[in-house]
Amino acid sequence: MTSQITLKRPDDWHLHLRDGNMLHAVLPSTATHFARAIIMPNLVPPVVTSADAAGYRDRILSALPEGSTFEPLMTLYLTEQTDPNDVAAAHASGLIKAVKLYPAGATTNSASGVSHFDSVRPTLERMAEIGLPLCVHGEVTDSDIDIFDREAVFIDRVLDPIRRTTPGLRVVMEHITTSNAVEYARSQDDTLGATITTHHLVINRNHILAGGIKPHYYCLPVAKREEHRLALRDAATSGEARFFLGTDSAPHTDANKLLPCGCAGCFTAPNTMSILTQAFEEDSALEKLEGFTSLNGPAFYGLPVNEDTITLTKGDPVTYPSHVETPDGPVTVFDPGFDLNWRVE
Ligand code: DOR
Ligand code: ZN
Repeated sequence: MTSQITLKRPDDWHLHLRDGNMLHAVLPSTATHFARAIIMPNLVPPVVTSADAAGYRDRILSALPEGSTFEPLMTLYLTEQTDPNDVAAAHASGLIKAVKLYPAGATTNSASGVSHFDSVRPTLERMAEIGLPLCVHGEVTDSDIDIFDREAVFIDRVLDPIRRTTPGLRVVMEHITTSNAVEYARSQDDTLGATITTHHLVINRNHILAGGIKPHYYCLPVAKREEHRLALRDAATSGEARFFLGTDSAPHTDANKLLPCGCAGCFTAPNTMSILTQAFEEDSALEKLEGFTSLNGPAFYGLPVNEDTITLTKGDPVTYPSHVETPDGPVTVFDPGFDLNWRVE
């Protein structure tokens, strides 16, 4: 029985760090285990220009714990006013590694996102030319589309048409939640990648809604039926290069999660590596974990694999603090609902 596993240090290809007090409170959780992360730009106001991204990167670097070598990989928030020249310059200087597409109204702080996809065509074409990936929040926002169907409908109505009309554009389907997304990703060439979160590998919609509503399991895209969770587990543990970890760790204070209209997001940064190792072991796929957390992402983004490693050891149950404290109140750490036996050394 395996009791220890050593992996190339993992990266997180989709992370929310926020700003100010929250940034300072949550950054150490990621910087302890991960070497790099793709940083989501949905601040208030969003990170839309290269100057915004440079300022945000400086704030992240100055919030890092002493001695940390964690590297934030910056993104720009795509709007209908985005200047393709600004995007290309930010890419050429090495400042940004991707551009993020939020359909307007799809999720937290997405109001400045895209409603008319034709208006961002010049930027997407430029990105295809220069090889800059587009990270996509893949949900339609139409009020007549059931929230559990929004990802599948987005693939047909938006994503596939964008890919057909912009050949060569590198796209990451982010935080996929359905077997439809797994199948679509598998049917495409290597210009398409897909991230999978920790929480979508371990919860289905019953965890949110059965036996009382559990706001800390509410995120977007919302967790789907069990058959979809199983399709995600199959994809993550398959070893296929197109699937890699993007935690979508999305901290909100408990006060903001527990409102009558509470915020979407699961804060998984502290215990993600323990949860994933447990899940891969349960599926007899420990030998595929390193690909998912540490190899496939850098390959998609054309970046080197990290040189150092992390080791997890199996033993007595490991506990993580239930909350991270911030000056604005506590942030609840995701509870996978089962004991964790894998400790990050
Ligand atoms: O659950 C989510 N939380 N999904 C998103 O797309 C955004 C994120 C956030 O920023 O809180
Ligand atoms: Zn996100």
